[in-house]
Amino acid sequence: MKQYYIYTYGCQMNESDSERLAHQLETAGYTATDAVEEADLIILNTCCVRETAENKIYGRIGELKHLKEKNKDLILAITGCMAQKNQADMFKRAPHIDIVLGTHNIQHINEMIAEVQRTHTHQLNVDMDNTVLPELEAKPNGTFFAWVPIMNGCNKFCTYCIVPHVRGREISRPVSAIVEDVRKLGAQGYKEITLLGQNVNSYGLDFKDGTHFGTLIDALDGIPGIERIRYMTSHPQDMNKEMIDALGRSSNVVTQLHLPVQSGSDRILHKMNRHYTVEHYKDLVAYCRKMIPGLTLTTDIIVGFPGETEEDFEATVQLLKDVRYDMAYTFIFSKRSGTPAATMEDQVPEEVKRVRLQKLMDVQNEISLALNKDMEGHVYDIIIEGPSRTDETMWFGRTSGNKMVLFPREDRLHVGDTVQARITKGQTWVLYGEIL
Ligand code: SAH
Ligand code: SF4
Ligand code: F3S
Repeated sequence: MKQYYIYTYGCQMNESDSERLAHQLETAGYTATDAVEEADLIILNTCCVRETAENKIYGRIGELKHLKEKNKDLILAITGCMAQKNQADMFKRAPHIDIVLGTHNIQHINEMIAEVQRTHTHQLNVDMDNTVLPELEAKPNGTFFAWVPIMNGCNKFCTYCIVPHVRGREISRPVSAIVEDVRKLGAQGYKEITLLGQNVNSYGLDFKDGTHFGTLIDALDGIPGIERIRYMTSHPQDMNKEMIDALGRSSNVVTQLHLPVQSGSDRILHKMNRHYTVEHYKDLVAYCRKMIPGLTLTTDIIVGFPGETEEDFEATVQLLKDVRYDMAYTFIFSKRSGTPAATMEDQVPEEVKRVRLQKLMDVQNEISLALNKDMEGHVYDIIIEGPSRTDETMWFGRTSGNKMVLFPREDRLHVGDTVQARITKGQTWVLYGEIL
């Protein structure tokens, strides 16, 4: 029996693609292994959103060379965004790679493996001419939660971002296909789904028939078994009241919103090609908080975008203090070749970027801690996910707002149970609770 091992980097879209790759491999007779040394096929499903991601992956590809030397039949495949970006250059840099498979072609993995076995030559497929997304089955990793891709690609072209270049233009899956997927998942015992797209708020616009994200949210309401619907990522330019109303009236959409702002300076937002102002963003947040009571709000922020002055940066700090996010994912601007920002003048020195990042994290951590402390004494529904990674006597689950709650393990509790937890202690990153 042949065995496979998949490394997954990057965002949830890649997690989902890996599950779809796994399903195909299993239909071809492969089984999963936890021991990479025993694999006959290793896939690295890659990300290239920042340079650090790419460097880490090249490091791993180098480390895997010794396994190829030990086992001449081992097949090494690179899939995902970095494969799409670097294409045949990957073979030049690391000739021990067998397959480079781009983001639009994962449905061809088994044919490519067969070609390598037959011809022992490099196999490359990075075509991006799809106009319809292939419908691919997944082998879900989770026992009660599953990813549901609703679209692929991005049309936004933020000036720092490589994603539109490696994922192509937006293509949505039909509402009916998504509803059918979610019905099946509900019937199979999945309680929680996450709708995935680089910009879910432009879902359906490519059909040009009036379909939009709100239409989909309404269509997914009340599907038997589905307790929680998450969705990511939202975009402040395309998210509108109609969609927020649909999220608010749904009986199973969660009280969580990830709404990347990127910067608190209108001047920088403009240079980023993000077509909204800080004022518009704040209005949007206020409306979301009104329509979705108890909302957990998170964001992404880039520090050190070219031309970012102390004043621009301070505006971002102020935005954090004004909005009071539950959490902010903060990134140092990374030059991605082929994007406009990579060659803009006034690049910010590395040292300045690092200082700004630290300051932002300090401000945010204080806010996260205060908001989590506010939850102490209150009771929340959580779905149990399993044992804590660091302490076997503790388990954890998540609230509808996606906050992690740690609690002492008890025999009566099982993974996937929905239970009530009273919060006993709020910390910056996690909460502690007791199960009622
Ligand atoms: N489609 C999503 C997220 C895409 S990538 C969105 O629009 O929000 C996830 C995050 O990585 C982005 O929100 C951004 O904050 C960050 N990011 C993207 N390109 C980057 C770059 N070149 N340097 C630093 N951070 C970057
Ligand atoms: Fe990148 Fe902007 Fe598209 Fe998000 S919306 S994937 S940041 S180009
Ligand atoms: Fe990375 Fe591609 Fe996702 S670049 S963040 S894996 S869309």
